Amino acid sequence: MDFKDKVAIITGGARGIGATTCWAFANRGATAIVVDINGEGAKKVAADIQTKGFNAVAYTADVSDKKSVDDLVEDVFKKFGRVDILVNNAYISGGYAIVTETSQETWDKVIAVNLTGAFLFAKAVAKIMIPQKSGKIINISSGAGTSGSLSSGVQYPASKAGIIGLTLGLAGDLAPFGINVNCITPGLIRTWEPEEMAKQATGWTLEKVDSYIAVEVPLKRVGEPEDIAETVVFLASEGASYIVGEVINVDGGGVIDSVAKRESLLGF
Ligand SMILES: NC(=O)c1ccc[n+]([C@@H]2O[C@H](COP(=O)([O-])OP(=O)(O)OC[C@H]3O[C@@H](n4cnc5c(N)ncnc54)[C@H](O)[C@@H]3O)[C@@H](O)[C@H]2O)c1
Repeated sequence: MDFKDKVAIITGGARGIGATTCWAFANRGATAIVVDINGEGAKKVAADIQTKGFNAVAYTADVSDKKSVDDLVEDVFKKFGRVDILVNNAYISGGYAIVTETSQETWDKVIAVNLTGAFLFAKAVAKIMIPQKSGKIINISSGAGTSGSLSSGVQYPASKAGIIGLTLGLAGDLAPFGINVNCITPGLIRTWEPEEMAKQATGWTLEKVDSYIAVEVPLKRVGEPEDIAETVVFLASEGASYIVGEVINVDGGGVIDSVAKRESLLGF
């Protein structure tokens, strides 16, 4: 898949799935626009990509801030004259608390970053993609948005279910202009060092990760950022030009939840 001369905006590009997606586009010829609230991280990803002879530009922005988003997209358009791909990937979790202990502040912040941020970016790039009569928007949801999650509180699954609704709304609006909007629901993806994950306040421990994978993931391995990035690249490619409004599980079969669980418990 060749993305020469394409311009791809990836939010949350400073690390994890976002950074890997920036690389996946850049090493296929696109210019990766690395967007993150962590400006230093974004600059490092862009600089590393450039060191290998590929094209990337870093922007520091909070995806939930409308002016920052509009200014950024306007600047990209001024520099490159087009935007071909948007990957709405930036997120925060808000941590875990039972609903009675979840503050409205946490709720508002998570919805603002995870959902409103994706809306703001989609709206800004649609203004360029519509007259361009082409474009690909790929939204990163989560299995938590379809099946919930016992370790993410209420705000994260709500924001990720919202991303699926946003995808469907955008897909219907923009398909007549030749713009494909689709969504990916990742399962558990290794975006952290194991030690870092064990320290996180989400209730996850290394042992929990191992037993989760053994029971819930028929492929019996944790997902890697490349598993998501490669699906994003496919959805942005010409080969996916008849796919619109789709929600794709990339989770090693984790969606086959009850079967995997039953078989694992039965010792298959
Ligand atoms: N890792 C997983 O297991 C997993 C599972 C399901 C879904 N996902 C989804 O995949 C996506 C990426 O996950 P990840 O694990 O790579 O995340 P990550 O935490 O490694 O990276 C997220 C990035 O978003 C940036 N960010 C946070 N708030 C921002 C803001 N307001 N403006 C701009 N940037 C901001 C962070 O600085 C960070 O660089 C997310 O949408 C997440 O919901 C991940």
